[in-house]
Amino acid sequence: MIQRSLLALVTLIAIACTAVAAQNLSPIKLPAPQTDGGKPLMQVLKARQSAREYGSEKLPPQVLSNLLWAAWGINRPDGHRTAPSASNKQEIDVYVVMPEGAYIYDAKAHALNPVASGDLRAVTGTQPFPATAALNLVYVADMTKAGRPATDPQQAMNVGADAGFISANAYLYCASEGLATVARASVDKGALGKALKLRETQVIVLAQSVGYPKK
Ligand SMILES: Cc1cc2nc3c(=O)[nH]c(=O)nc-3n(C[C@H](O)[C@H](O)[C@H](O)COP(=O)(O)O)c2cc1C
Repeated sequence: MIQRSLLALVTLIAIACTAVAAQNLSPIKLPAPQTDGGKPLMQVLKARQSAREYGSEKLPPQVLSNLLWAAWGINRPDGHRTAPSASNKQEIDVYVVMPEGAYIYDAKAHALNPVASGDLRAVTGTQPFPATAALNLVYVADMTKAGRPATDPQQAMNVGADAGFISANAYLYCASEGLATVARASVDKGALGKALKLRETQVIVLAQSVGYPKK
């Protein structure tokens, strides 16, 4: 009886702590991206590769800012982006899963808006290393923006291509900056969708780990 009450108390405390942590997660305004640096393109293409071993260092805010802008930032005054998208539907949202919580990238504000608190890195993949990468990007298609449902084969291909372009941009930025990265389709989409509080009309397309290489 005492044991059961103790367990209930511990559970209540854990729920309360999570609620407090969720309240504490604030939006992150990213520094302006540095858009005039980086290695020459041909050197970057020579260096591009996938990596599955990560160091424990966090990405500094400026590097995070540059990464997100390179991947899926706004690069023209009319709102067009660094990656193309079919009919310019811009249906892919980039979720950023870091040790303190998960955020969604708001390209217009160049900011991160909180989605869920706590360390969800392990939930972003079925392999062990995503739990150790500084962050994991998750590319999520909003099918209400895409126009046609994901069951339409052409639409499914468009969404895959659109996420692939964003992932390629992230790969190239990582190669330029000496960061480790790998795109990942091995994701438990049910578990991750729940953790990221996705709506039924949102589809996880790909994940991508990013961090400093293991020394
Ligand atoms: C669509 C896609 C899905 C992938 N899924 C995974 C994955 O789930 N896990 C993984 O370790 N690597 C994954 N990769 C990385 C590939 O295994 C990697 O790109 C390939 O082995 C070639 O190596 P390279 O990128 O170093 O050239 C994926 C790559 C792509 C493009």
